[in-house]
This record gives sequence, structure tokens and C-alpha cells, in this order.
Amino acid sequence: MGELTGKRIVLGVTGGVAAYKAAELVRALVREQAAVEVVLTATGARFVSAATFQALSGNPVWLDLWDDRASGGMAHIELGRRADAIVVAPASADFLAKLACGLADDLLSTLCLARPAGRVLMVAPAMNREMWDNPATRRNAARLREDGVALLGPADGEQACGETGPGRMAEPGELIEALIATFQPRRLAGRRLLITAGPTFEPIDPVRGLTNLSSGRMGYALARAAAEAGAAVTLVSGPVSLATPGGVERVDVLTALQMREAVLSRLADIDLFIAVAAVCDFRAAEPSVAKVKKEGASLSLPLARNPDILAEVAARPDAPFCVGFAAETERLEEQAEAKRRAKGLPLLVGNLVQEGMGGENSRLVLFDDGGMHPIAPGSKREIARRLIGEIAARLPGGAHG
Ligand code: CTP
Repeated sequence: MGELTGKRIVLGVTGGVAAYKAAELVRALVREQAAVEVVLTATGARFVSAATFQALSGNPVWLDLWDDRASGGMAHIELGRRADAIVVAPASADFLAKLACGLADDLLSTLCLARPAGRVLMVAPAMNREMWDNPATRRNAARLREDGVALLGPADGEQACGETGPGRMAEPGELIEALIATFQPRRLAGRRLLITAGPTFEPIDPVRGLTNLSSGRMGYALARAAAEAGAAVTLVSGPVSLATPGGVERVDVLTALQMREAVLSRLADIDLFIAVAAVCDFRAAEPSVAKVKKEGASLSLPLARNPDILAEVAARPDAPFCVGFAAETERLEEQAEAKRRAKGLPLLVGNLVQEGMGGENSRLVLFDDGGMHPIAPGSKREIARRLIGEIAARLPGGAHG
């Protein structure tokens, strides 16, 4: 099932070279099973034709305020009213100015103005960097943010005009992620989450180290689900090759000691700490400055115990609500509950390793004072959302939203 199944999206396309990316955006929306209606401005139609958008969306394209296909010729009212969200991508400097002033002289600007209160309006500016830097545009963008319009981008980079700087339209993938997020319940609105993810890497010498097979995917999926649920998220991450979820602040670390330092120095005002990282329990007691040479038939490597970050945070008098993870290969119930008690955690997520560690699907069981609660299986993303729902419901003060 698509992430936008059942959602009706009006996509406004204004005049700009980035209009070609809007075609890609329509494809991505349709892939997520959204019903897409494209509204093309007169200048937008100079860059990409209505036929392209019609073919990609499978729906007729709207061009004209006076289009009489809508009942009573009221396309500007009807389109906005039946949409779950309005996205304008690319949004030209001219269109931002119109929107900021409440002008309504074509179909797109009129339907934006006539949208019902609270309806999501997401706008992806795209223009030459000087136009974006112009105080007039900056003023308009600030005004739109104040008015509750979600501005995404622009990104920095090479521009069609040959210049380099801010003004590129946000990528379709980023827009889709942001749109999906707007439809999630805001169960963690106003909450501050600190989360660890990924493995740690403990150097033995300048080219070798101790680590483990954690991919970081579960931690990243949770960080993302928490951000979607409205939390301010700081993700302390060991070395992984994953993209940072939108809206998440990421701090990269390598070793357990660095992870501990990064966590402890960011605990102020944190409501919730989720430790998903597979922290190496041991590190080389004395990493070699030079590369270790193969001398002799064997090598002994003295190891030192790493501090337990989660246990340390949970033991603080001002501890946030702490959630731990336990990956076990056998006797999950017994081992997970023992870990929860040893670390003094209100909630621990147990994972039986043969059922999916490192894979796309995981089978998880929650352990709390009330006992064991299995989480319904699903994709990592679905599971992450369910987990965030379960955690939010247990937070002091309860779930918001
Ligand atoms: N954890 C941590 N710091 C460590 C070790 C673990 O914060 N130095 C956290 C993990 O992020 C996870 C939980 O503690 O939330 C895992 O507990 P732990 O008992 O360390 O699990 P394992 O490392 O699997 O322990 P063992 O090897 O003894 O089974």
C-alpha cells in the first residue's frame, strides 16, 4: 500500500526551469497512490506542457480560472476543498509574492487563497539565487512561514542559469517525505527526543577496528517516525551509510566513548531517550598508533569494557523517559526482561535476532511493568510508527495530538 493512499493532492506548477522536476514529483505521488490533480499556471505551461502532467497523473490538467468543467465554474473553490493538501512545486518568486500578499488573479493563486483553514499548503521555491536573496523574496518567504505555509528548500547547488547558490527546487523525494509526514498523527508534538543508532567502531590501530553488523536502519526509522510525529529529534549516529531523515539533527560519532559524550552533553531538556545503537561492549584497551604487524602465530588484544550509555542515562535523577533495545538469539522474554530491570528502564524493545536483524522486517516485543506486548509485524517504517505510538502513550503526560 502506498504511503499516500486515499489522499487527494493538488499540485500547482508555476513558471521555472524546475517545472521538469514537477513531472517527476507527479510520478512519485502516483507511486504512493495519491490522486493527483495538476494546476498549471500560464508561465508553468511554457516549461512543461499540460499533456505531460495529464499523462503522468491520469487526470485532466487545470489551467484556467474560468474552466467550466467544475460545477458552476467554481474550480478555485472545488479543487482546494476536495484536496487533502496543496503542493506548489516549483514556486517562482512571483508566485511567492502573490501568495504572501493574498493576490488571486489566476486559478492557482485563487485556489490557494480560497483553501479551507488548516488545509496543508506546501511550497517549494525555485529561482535564481539573486532572486531568492532579494530582501523582497526573503520578506515574502518569512511572511508565508508566519501564515503557516510549509516552505521546503530551496536547496543549494548548481543552477540552470549557470550560477551556484541557493535557489534549486527541493528534490521530489524530499517533498514526498515531508508530505507523508504532514498526514501522521502528531503524538510527540512539543517533545524532545535524543536517540542513538548504528554500530560503534572501536579502533585497534589506524586501519582496523572492532565493530558489529548493525545497519542503523531501525534507529533511523524511529528517528524519522518521531520527527513525523512532531518531536524535535537529535540522532547520535555511529558509522552507517544512511541518509539523515528530514528535520532530524544528526551528530556523527565513531566510538562508544564519543557516543556517550555526545549523549550526555545533549541531555538538557530531553523528554525521551531511545537507545537503539548496537554499542560495542568492549574497546581495545590501548589502540596502537602505528599499524599492527603480523608477528608471531597469534595475537592477544587486551580489551577494556565500554560504559553503558543507556544505564548511565537511566540512573540519573533527572533521567528522561528511557527506552532500550535488546537483540537476543534465544530466550528473548527472560533476557529482555532481565536487561530492562538491570538498567532500570520503563520500557524495553526486544528483538529475536533470527527474525530479522539487518533485514527489512523485524519482529518486536515490548516489555514494561505490565508484561510483554508483541508489536504487529510490518515494514521497518510501519513498525517504527507503531513503536512511536506505543512510546508516546507511555510518556508522562500521555500522547499529544
Ligand atoms: N547500550 C548502551 N551502551 C552500551 C551498551 C548498550 O547504551 N555500552 C544500550 C543499547 O543501545 C540498547 C541496550 O543498551 O538499547 C542493549 O543492552 P545490552 O545489555 O548492552 O545489550 P547487548 O549489548 O546485546 O548485551 P549482551 O551483549 O550482554 O547481550
